[in-house]
Amino acid sequence: MTEQDGGTDHEMRVSKIESGTVIDHITSGQALNVLALLGIDGTDGDVVSVGINVPSNRLGYKDVAKIEDRELSQSELDVLSLIAPAATINIIRGYEVTDKQRVESPEHVSGVLNCPNPDCITTEDEPIDSRFEVLNDGLRCVYCDTIVRDDIADYIDP
Ligand code: CTP
Ligand code: ZN
Repeated sequence: MTEQDGGTDHEMRVSKIESGTVIDHITSGQALNVLALLGIDGTDGDVVSVGINVPSNRLGYKDVAKIEDRELSQSELDVLSLIAPAATINIIRGYEVTDKQRVESPEHVSGVLNCPNPDCITTEDEPIDSRFEVLNDGLRCVYCDTIVRDDIADYIDP
């Protein structure tokens, strides 16, 4: 254990978990948006611990989210990369890290974010899922070409 999750030599700020997923090295301040992207709002009974703006050797400051007894799908990890490109996904079993991977940016994201254009076919009463092409510096709606550059989290489908 190197960073102690922002704790001191004496304590960890966020306890270790027995099994589940630790999303580490989240861009500081983005943990609640990450949980929103994953559809976790606390009402489903998921056991979740979150550290926000904790000191990190690598990033200066970071967020951490620990979701017990749950693993994430590839599409969930892909979307997560949009707001937390440096995130590390650690799978925990029997208190040990059994798998560690970085998130990767997908080419497209479907159904997770809403197009900001009120006239877009995906925001009208049609049963059409949103779909964005992932650009280097933002997202492009494949239906109406609207570009989303900043605060992608503001467009999360509630
Ligand atoms: N972790 C946890 N519960 C466990 C094991 C690990 O919550 N039973 C957390 C650690 O606190 C850390 C992350 O999972 O936030 C990754 O653990 P580990 O690989 O041991 O830490 P580092 O070596 O610091 O990871 P990295 O090299 O990715 O920074
Ligand atoms: Zn659109």
